[in-house]
Amino acid sequence: MPRALVPPHAEVLPGRLADWRPALARHYKRLGHLSRLRRFMAVLPNSSLQKIADRASPDIVLGIRADGRLVGVLEVFKGDNAHAEIGISVEDAHQGQGLGRALFLDGLAAAEDHGVRTADLYFSSENHGIRSLVSDAGGQILQRGAECEAHIDISRFKACHDLSGVAEDLATVRILH
Ligand SMILES: CC(C)(COP(=O)(O)OP(=O)(O)OC[C@H]1O[C@@H](n2cnc3c(N)ncnc32)[C@H](O)[C@@H]1OP(=O)(O)O)[C@@H](O)C(=O)NCCC(=O)NCCS
Repeated sequence: MPRALVPPHAEVLPGRLADWRPALARHYKRLGHLSRLRRFMAVLPNSSLQKIADRASPDIVLGIRADGRLVGVLEVFKGDNAHAEIGISVEDAHQGQGLGRALFLDGLAAAEDHGVRTADLYFSSENHGIRSLVSDAGGQILQRGAECEAHIDISRFKACHDLSGVAEDLATVRILH
């Protein structure tokens, strides 16, 4: 008998930077080797991930929950001229279930709400998951050896798609801070 798919429960995590840095650390440390490599371009040990989380100062953080806890994070680091860099990761056991796409779409919408017009992502060329998300957002992907640099014009993407509507359908993420 077909089983109804229940969307993951979305929850706003309370607090400020100092409160949710520990959540980032816990999330980073739950990533497997390949995901660490893909997110940080190196298979970092837990001690290094802790340091990264302790020093993290993204301007916007979104989280996605499943099984009653945070399983994915998207961070937006704002730069000059309405530009930002985005980092995203979903725990290994929860990948391939649409969480990354929901997180990414809500991330772009949230970035746009905060004045970001263009965003970059960096990933390895074998990373088909993020490549697919970026391509579907109309991102331009430049391959530089084994690495890729993607540029997304968020306002242009938004003009073609109702970002907030798409994200609401998926109903899975909230801005944490
Ligand atoms: C990239 C990432 C966030 C995608 O999250 P996800 O929850 O797996 O994504 P979704 O389930 O929404 O799938 C998104 C797309 O990726 C594809 N995908 C997911 N896992 C894949 C895999 N292991 N191999 C190939 N494609 C994959 C899906 O098929 C989907 O594409 P489609 O809709 O065209 O079929 C996740 O794989 C991840 O955390 N990776 C490690 C960190 C990372 O790579 N970060 C990006 C650099 S900052």
